[in-house]
Amino acid sequence: MASYSFSELVKGATLNGVRFIVCGHLQNNRMHPQTSTSPKEQVMTHLELTGVSIDFPTPKGAFRALDNVNLKIAKGEFISLIGHSGCGKSTVLNIVAGLYQATTGGVVLDGKEVREPGPERAVVFQNHSLLPWLSAYENVELAVRQVFRRTKSKAEMRDWIEHNLALVHMDHAMHKRPDEISGGMKQRVGIARALAMEPKVLLMDEPFGALDALTRAHLQDSLMEIQTTLNNTVIMITHDVDEAVLLSDRIVMMTNGPAASVGEILDIELERPRDRIALADDTRYNHYRHEVLSFLYEKQRHPATDEAAGPVKKPEVAQDLQDRNTAKAESKAAEAA
Ligand SMILES: Nc1ncnc2c1ncn2[C@@H]1O[C@H](COP(=O)(O)OP(=O)(O)O)[C@@H](O)[C@H]1O
Ligand SMILES: [Mg+2]
Repeated sequence: MASYSFSELVKGATLNGVRFIVCGHLQNNRMHPQTSTSPKEQVMTHLELTGVSIDFPTPKGAFRALDNVNLKIAKGEFISLIGHSGCGKSTVLNIVAGLYQATTGGVVLDGKEVREPGPERAVVFQNHSLLPWLSAYENVELAVRQVFRRTKSKAEMRDWIEHNLALVHMDHAMHKRPDEISGGMKQRVGIARALAMEPKVLLMDEPFGALDALTRAHLQDSLMEIQTTLNNTVIMITHDVDEAVLLSDRIVMMTNGPAASVGEILDIELERPRDRIALADDTRYNHYRHEVLSFLYEKQRHPATDEAAGPVKKPEVAQDLQDRNTAKAESKAAEAA
């Protein structure tokens, strides 16, 4: 049997978020530093990160990965997190997921402090983390049982699993195992599994990063469609500037680490539904793209790689520490499930 740990599944299945509609014109475009409050934030805060800082222990002492991250997110908003590799995007997501504890500051979801993983925050990882010996249906079923075993009958659970697989256009292949379907299809199942838990917040860490451009475009369109229907809150990490502009209500741009924080926030005021072909020639779309590129390549020029994409090579000790800490966090997630 392949070396998939239960914690990997639970992590995928237990932690989880998203969308929004705005119209506007180029001149209304707002780019603001993290201290200002956007109109959407003023409507009603659903998810709030306040003064989030985190120190990781290293042989040379504490390493401050994040410093004073503040963000207010309204219900149904689609937020993208963008920044150079190693700046701390996944760390932010892991803190919202409850896998990491902030050293100072914290996260509040609907008035309740986040302290551990929970089914109201589902996570979709770049690597789908499906159990290879179970079919697509059974992978989703596992998560559905975990959340709804006391509230739904067997027949209701079956309908719910099929409904979620249909949402991601996987109903035709639901009895296939992961090794019988493509990477894009596996990622669809991962998304169906997360959605089937009816999370308040969907957390996605570079969900389409490993896919070819065409599959990626299809999945982005599906995700926009689903979010229009469900109106979940989504936080998605991406390296792809076009993906961020196409999908987001706001793009949160992070400064380089160490001690990374929110640099600027860009409101994307493009009406929905959004059509990638039409937007290609839209001056507003190209303006937003330019704003993000200028943040990444001019204001936050990466010292090591000078590019947003591609992993930065980390020192071995730090990497080893990170692996151990991640394993610890995963087993904590398994225990919580
Ligand atoms: N569990 C951990 N233990 C030690 N260092 C970590 C851990 N997780 C992340 N880091 C460090 O924190 C920084 C931010 O990492 P990460 O959030 O993974 O960045 P990103 O997702 O933006 O590429 C990096 O320098 C990374 O090495
Ligand atoms: Mg990351």
